[in-house]
Amino acid sequence: MTQADVSFSHLLLGTCDYPEHVPQDRPPVYARMQRELGLSFVRLAEFAWSRLEPLPGTFEWGWLDDAVEAYHAEGLRVVLCTPTPTPPAWLIRAHPEILAFDDQGRVREFGSRRHYDFASPVFREHSRRITRAIAERYGQHPAVAGWQTDNEFGCHATSRSYGGASAARFPEWLREKYGTLDALNAAWGNVFWSMEYTDWAQVRPPILTVTEVNPSHVLDYNRFASDMIREFQAEQVELLRELSPGRFVTHNFMIFESGFDHYDVARGLDFVTWDNYPTGMLELFAPPGIGEDLRTRYARTGHPDLVGFNHDLYRGLLSGGERLGRDGAGTPDGPWVMEQQCGQVNWAPYNPMPADGAVALWTAQAWAHGADVVSYFRWRAATMAQEVMHSGLLRHDETPDRGFAEVAALDQTAFPVGPVPARVALLHDYESLWIYDQQPHAQGLNYWTQTVTYYMALRRLGIDVDVIHADADLSGYAVVVAPAITLVSAGRAARWTDAVNAGAQLVCGPRTAFRTPGGETWSDGQFGPLSELVGARLLQYDSLRPTLRQTVSGAGDLSGTFEASTWAESYRLSGAQALAHYRGGPLDGQAAVIRRGNVTVIGAHSDALIGAVLEGVLGEAGVPVLPVPEGVRVSRRAGQLLVQNWNPEPVEWNGTTLPPVSFVVRPVEAGQPLEGEQDA
Ligand code: GAL
Repeated sequence: MTQADVSFSHLLLGTCDYPEHVPQDRPPVYARMQRELGLSFVRLAEFAWSRLEPLPGTFEWGWLDDAVEAYHAEGLRVVLCTPTPTPPAWLIRAHPEILAFDDQGRVREFGSRRHYDFASPVFREHSRRITRAIAERYGQHPAVAGWQTDNEFGCHATSRSYGGASAARFPEWLREKYGTLDALNAAWGNVFWSMEYTDWAQVRPPILTVTEVNPSHVLDYNRFASDMIREFQAEQVELLRELSPGRFVTHNFMIFESGFDHYDVARGLDFVTWDNYPTGMLELFAPPGIGEDLRTRYARTGHPDLVGFNHDLYRGLLSGGERLGRDGAGTPDGPWVMEQQCGQVNWAPYNPMPADGAVALWTAQAWAHGADVVSYFRWRAATMAQEVMHSGLLRHDETPDRGFAEVAALDQTAFPVGPVPARVALLHDYESLWIYDQQPHAQGLNYWTQTVTYYMALRRLGIDVDVIHADADLSGYAVVVAPAITLVSAGRAARWTDAVNAGAQLVCGPRTAFRTPGGETWSDGQFGPLSELVGARLLQYDSLRPTLRQTVSGAGDLSGTFEASTWAESYRLSGAQALAHYRGGPLDGQAAVIRRGNVTVIGAHSDALIGAVLEGVLGEAGVPVLPVPEGVRVSRRAGQLLVQNWNPEPVEWNGTTLPPVSFVVRPVEAGQPLEGEQDA
């Protein structure tokens, strides 16, 4: 990237502003206030197409020219956007074929946002046209630091369109991938239920079938739709590179968005940004393990690990965690939080007001997890349309809202940029997610739940984690955790084997390596190409309804009794040893946790069991653990330790009293144990 001219040594702040929503005399006032508040960046124009091009080919730049100048005059750097999430009414009515279709086969109409199909050739043309126009106008403006493409790909379930342009393109995509219908039919197992195709045109999007659709069909549709997003964005990125040299190009990804392969889509960007809404995230994405009591406890802050997981995931999108993770370079090259909640949101079932201190705590956590810039959404609360219930830094009447004071009180220099020193990698892969969630086999179980369960166990042990792609370079990690990587190719198995042979500990969750890249099961059974490394094969799997429990009993270092819920699978050993067995039920006496050399597999869902196994493995790998009480979290960056209290009450810990919803930053000697830190 090219942040050279915006280089900085500590966290910087910004906001998202909407000059098109306010009278023309406001941006100069806002720009001054933003500078006085200590903000450095302002993001503009992601939804402004109808004001930039009110009629076909008629551009009105005056209002945006004035706004850009106003921010420039106050020394703010502008992040401009391609306004493609909101094609205007004139374009849609002239070309209704731009519109996307939902999973019920219905057209998704004009009247909100994201109403387009990524595969639409007509929309692609207009996307390039508006990108060229805005980049020609502002690409070399000294205030413009960089670009955001579009806005939150996938938001409102828009990654995939199930008709129109996508339906037309899908057979072509399949033909390119498979070459022949025989190959396609074989790859999808279409002999099952006579689903074999004899003409490419017979293949449709995987919706509205009488009963379950073929999971391999879904897997390829998801890959196809993801490719359409990558192509769509790449066309914009190419133009921005040409017309706005020296500026960065990024995209603002969304919490727990699953609709496309983020690693693939991020590849052409300079760095990644994402949009952090902790309270809404808790309401909408909390896994079953975060029950009503914890949802109440964290209603006004969000849950630290849901937020932390997203930070760690987005930090690892571009280069497997190496950018800021382990190379020590510490260059300020992202990620950023492009939209940081700074008051109430408007889109969750409940939208509690954030606790006093929450905005500052979120900002500090973002920094500790690798963010170089935190930009608050939004500057002033909207006075019109869909988001009037959403807070900004300013209230509707332009007076400072609660978050404003917290931002004003932040000492940005207390947050130096630099590496996050994670020695533990947690593996993630969207294809595993897609195929896992096709056939979860137990209600309430899904890929994110299983993944986040392992992440939370690590965070409770005070561990910094890089979330990286399952095929990323694993060298340098002491412990590699694969919570739910159900799709394992021979190549992936070989890479994991190399990492283990190089000394890493590997810990796998249930259903690891259950499937081939095509989505079928390995015909020699789980663990397919990993069987030799693991020293075992799958014996049985059991799906536990909420009222069923399965006892797991460990021996040796894992001694104790654990209660598993939701899922339990057992193994037939061929070189591995059992560290724990099932007791009672149909799996009685069978192996529940197994180990061969540096490879451990946990077959059952139990927080306590997962925590105990991880603690043991971390100890063996020489990664010091620092167990923290409920709601207390630690993170390290650039030689500093951030201690956070997310609880609504004070906590005494490690010789310090932490007030409710608060943090402290203190230096940590690299490699030195912390006060209270133990070797496991
Ligand atoms: C984000 C989106 C913003 C705004 C915000 C409200 O998902 O990018 O445009 O809608 O949510 O919380």
